[in-house]
Formats: sequence, structure tokens, C-alpha cells
Amino acid sequence: MLSRHLQNLGYAYGDFAAHDSMWEMADKTKDDVLARMALVPRTLEARGLDATPAVRAKIAQAGDMAAAGILDIILREEVGHVAIGNHWYNWICDDRGLVPIATFAMLVVKYSAPVLRGPFNLPARRAAGFSEEELLVLQGINNT
Ligand SMILES: [Fe+2]
Repeated sequence: MLSRHLQNLGYAYGDFAAHDSMWEMADKTKDDVLARMALVPRTLEARGLDATPAVRAKIAQAGDMAAAGILDIILREEVGHVAIGNHWYNWICDDRGLVPIATFAMLVVKYSAPVLRGPFNLPARRAAGFSEEELLVLQGINNT
């Protein structure tokens, strides 16, 4: 979708610089599926849930409703990706006898994961399976 839209605008995938933090984290966590679930879907993809509404609003304001529609689809699908991460993260914690919230905090430090900043897309995060307790912790971290 994005590639086709870029072509419509006269560009191609790769014409603009982009970060690869998700791939870097995927590589850093390649030896532990728990860390992978914690820090790729539950951190970096979940960050997409938070960031997309503001980006979408800017793009819509600029008049690119096709791109805004693409972001709507990406946001909707991202909820499912994060939900899968939440499901397996909690499953692995249970399997290993770990406390999910404390373990997550430990993994953020161990892997130098980005500290998440608000505003948070709480409805999307709830739809993706974050617990109310975890959302409170997340917002508390944001206030320190
Ligand atoms: Fe995703």
C-alpha cells in the first residue's frame, strides 16, 4: 500500500531515510523469545499505536487522505500484531514463572530499549491486551 502510494507521488521505497530500530531490536533479541515479545511487538510496535494518530492527523491536514486511509489500516492491523505479542509474552512469563510487569522492566534495562513516552493510545493498547495495571505503570514511567 505504501509503496504504491509513494509511486503515485513520484517516489519509490528507499528514496527517504528511515530508522531501523525495529530490526535492530529483532537482532538484539534473537536468542530469547521472551525478550523478543517484550521489546518488538510490546514496545516498538506498540509505539506505533501511540504515534500513528498524530502522524495520521498531520497527513490528513496536509490533504493526503489516501495516506491517512493507509495509516488507518496499518493502525488497525498493528493492534493485532501487538495483541499477539502480549499473548505470547504473558504465556512465556507464565511458563517460566516470571512476573510480567517486573520482567518487562528488567528486559527494558537489559536490552537498552527505548523508554516509552506519551501520549499513549490507551484505547488501542487496551484493544491489544495491555492490562490496566501495566497501563498505569507505563503512564507512571512517563511522569518521572
Ligand atoms: Fe506490526
